[in-house]
Amino acid sequence: MTKITFNKKKKMFHLQNEYISYIFEVLPNGYLAQSYFGEVIDVSNDENFVIQQNRPMTTYVEDKLSLQNQPLEYPNFGTTDYRRSAFDFELEDGSRITDFVYKKHIVLDQKEALQGVPNTRESEGVKQLNVYLEDELLNTILILKYTIYPGLSSIVRSVEVQNNGNQVIKLNKLLSLSIGLTDQYSKWIQLSGDWARERHVIERSLSYGTTSIESITGSSSAYHNPYVLLTTEHTTEDYGDTVSVSLMYSGNHVISSEINAIGINRIQAGINPTGFSWKLEGGASFQSPEAILTYSNKGKNGNSIQLHRFIKNHIVNPKWNETRPLLINNWEATYFDFDSKVLVEIATEASSLGFDLFVLDDGWFGKRNSDSVGLGDWVVNEEKIQGGLEKLVKSINEVGMDFGIWIEPEMVNLESELYKLHPDWVVGHPRRRMSLGRNQLVLDFSNADVVDYIFDAFTSIFDSINLKYIKWDMNRSITEPFSVSLTSQNQGEFYHRYILGVYDLYERITTRYPDVMIEGCASGGNRFDLGILYYSPQIWTSDNTDGLERVKIQYGTSFAYPLSTMSSHISAVPNHQIGRSTPLRFRSDVATFGTYGYELDPRGLSEKEKSFIISENEVYKKRQHIILKGDFYRVANPFETDEASWISVLPDKCSALAGFYILTEKPNRGPIRVVFKGLSKDKTYTVSSTVVNGTYSGAYLMNLGILFEPSFNGQVIVRDSVGDFQSYLFDIKERRD
Ligand code: DGJ
Repeated sequence: MTKITFNKKKKMFHLQNEYISYIFEVLPNGYLAQSYFGEVIDVSNDENFVIQQNRPMTTYVEDKLSLQNQPLEYPNFGTTDYRRSAFDFELEDGSRITDFVYKKHIVLDQKEALQGVPNTRESEGVKQLNVYLEDELLNTILILKYTIYPGLSSIVRSVEVQNNGNQVIKLNKLLSLSIGLTDQYSKWIQLSGDWARERHVIERSLSYGTTSIESITGSSSAYHNPYVLLTTEHTTEDYGDTVSVSLMYSGNHVISSEINAIGINRIQAGINPTGFSWKLEGGASFQSPEAILTYSNKGKNGNSIQLHRFIKNHIVNPKWNETRPLLINNWEATYFDFDSKVLVEIATEASSLGFDLFVLDDGWFGKRNSDSVGLGDWVVNEEKIQGGLEKLVKSINEVGMDFGIWIEPEMVNLESELYKLHPDWVVGHPRRRMSLGRNQLVLDFSNADVVDYIFDAFTSIFDSINLKYIKWDMNRSITEPFSVSLTSQNQGEFYHRYILGVYDLYERITTRYPDVMIEGCASGGNRFDLGILYYSPQIWTSDNTDGLERVKIQYGTSFAYPLSTMSSHISAVPNHQIGRSTPLRFRSDVATFGTYGYELDPRGLSEKEKSFIISENEVYKKRQHIILKGDFYRVANPFETDEASWISVLPDKCSALAGFYILTEKPNRGPIRVVFKGLSKDKTYTVSSTVVNGTYSGAYLMNLGILFEPSFNGQVIVRDSVGDFQSYLFDIKERRD
């Protein structure tokens, strides 16, 4: 049930469904003020949400109402509000003062498709509110768009600007949302890191002034994911109010908080204004990406579960919700050193181990024998792939495996035919130094000719092979942001036009090959965001496949993204990224909580390892629906303790899978207790694991949990798995008899 109402007397909008209310009102001076976002409430005519009383020593216009202390909904620049504006328009006379006030609104019974940027998807029962703000002097309209879906506690916001006047407006900033929350949201959780340690959980206390995370790398970046969770001082993993902000965008972003002197917390999110300036001609319009606000009063887990459901239902293409291929990738097995014979050997071995899909990673094209050559030359290297790709794919299919391929469409090496032919197709200034990253330059995807060329290069290969999967990589950040294809007036558009070019290529490839699944990747998880997830149902979570590091990375990632989006593989030890060795069982039990696969050479495995992998693959296939469709609860936090645990529970609460991990063992440990979450307290469950098998009530499992002996008590070794890196999975099923 979704409803959008407008109280004419109070000029108050109320968006609501079963779970949430989002209320804002038109102030007497025409500006919009946020009134409430939280658990669904009834509103009569008497409520007074926004206190409009003026305060001493403020500035005001004739109506005497200062904006300085109002929880404004989408604030102008250059008026009586001294906080960060939501937009910044530079006019032809050099002024930046704007005065957008309420003009009208419409309510739609569907989700309006946005131009250029990926959209949250249409769905039954969805409602959209478009509020039109106008600056009469500019003859320009801002359309604030709000979407509410049934059964989920999220509101989607975006903004479109329509220049109906004659002058050119320079958009120096156009955020997707701005909202004035109360000061109860005093804690801020961000997912930050670097290559090989993406999305670690960082918590900060908010105070007066500004707090923000940003990216200026040209991608959403491993440094700061475009997601923030706001909680109260007392919110825990399972109790208390939370609001999360997620931006559906893969380029430069910003999410910020600004708390003013009376405690209003202005939260903003959108395209990073640094380096951004869009020339909007008369008659033209510009659409911001969407941002998603999610509320839960059931703590951090509650917020994640709502957001995960939203992503699975309305962002990821639903056709990928049912199942994912169990894949093996040759990257860490061979790096650049392979030929068809080796690949077919790997695929043959992998097929006998129960894998579905073989992924040919980097090195199959041009003169690509190292990472300094060949990017851009999308022609199969017949010295390695003897007889061509068609022949290779046929051989791989013959051994019972589907075929997937690695590409890095946005890049070029200096040493490549493409760069020799089109040196003007790279990002950079012709008279300045050009920085390299992984020996490569970035192709100028703001130039449609480049995107067309790359599209044609790939279709001429993909059209002739039986392709099931693409791994779309992107291995460096943008520097020297300049495009020779843009005029001096349009250079500020480069970063955004680049990412629109990326989306355009994604759109064209997914349209032409609707049955090919794309996995996003950017040196691991350097571009893990909702924009990419719109096209790719899963993303390579990190290059770091070490079991211990993956516990942390997957735990952090789970705040903002469901397990179904986290591509997680098992690799050989010592691990190639950190040099650590962890048991195969541990690596597998961690990778199980994601879309499972391997990247190692199966030809060198012992018989014991092979039979382990065969049985793990079979078991994963039986558990996969719980991973893809379950609600995920974090239980023990690996950033705070030497243990980690989590559980995925199907929404009907009939089946669940839990993981418990001892990261570093402690001496003389007492009995181990594992507590579960998310089950039904009234149901009876059977629990199967390597340590405990039995029947328990949900209430028992969620309160007392199950107890078992530690592996080693200083004298007696109880089971094989001893010391650091122990792992235990628990299959939990409702008993019906
Ligand atoms: C970076 C990716 O994250 C790796 O998985 C691999 O595909 C390499 N690129 C290949 O160059």
